Amino acid sequence: MPKKKPLVSSSLPLFSSNILNDGTTAIGAMKDRCLTCTLCKLHETRTNVVFGEGLMCEPKIAFVGEGPGRNEDEQGRPFVGDAGDVLMRWLASIRMTRDQVYICNTVNCRPPKNRTPEEDELEACSTYLHGQLLAVKPKVIVALGATAAKALARSSKAIGELRGQWLQWNDIPLRATYHPAYILRNAAAEEVVLKDFERIALKLETLCIA
Ligand code: URA
Repeated sequence: MPKKKPLVSSSLPLFSSNILNDGTTAIGAMKDRCLTCTLCKLHETRTNVVFGEGLMCEPKIAFVGEGPGRNEDEQGRPFVGDAGDVLMRWLASIRMTRDQVYICNTVNCRPPKNRTPEEDELEACSTYLHGQLLAVKPKVIVALGATAAKALARSSKAIGELRGQWLQWNDIPLRATYHPAYILRNAAAEEVVLKDFERIALKLETLCIA
């Protein structure tokens, strides 16, 4: 009997469905590949790859951060340090918890001294980022900070210009807001972020999924 064709090839660009014929998940296959990735120079200085985590089947929200910091690099998990505490506070403001959302980053390895990821690093990791978003199919994407906002909106505009409106990524509503680390340095700006989160909650309501 001819071998059954996989529903989805496990080659990187095609993560459009979650279950492969052999029972593994597309995202699991992608994570396995990412854990040994050497596509950019960030692999030379990482302790752990920090792949996305959370609800993988149509979460209401997928958050996209910039890149792992020290705590994330040590633990191999996104947003587990101070910035993660801030993000959880924002989630709580719309009565949601970490296990109800998906959380990932524009790059999966920590940039040295937490510098902004460079173009070649963003480009190398974009297959993983796009693959994760296509596989989990969030109702809404929230870009945290300028790096994620610019990468997903394909814009060079500042975060102050990109936030406060609905954008789109592959037909999925996209909202940009400030990065939790920015709020740790500028507490006054948190009020604006909390308003952004109210808008996000309203959008989820209009999509009849809140
Ligand atoms: N900042 C990010 O952008 N991502 C993390 O995972 C943690 C801090």
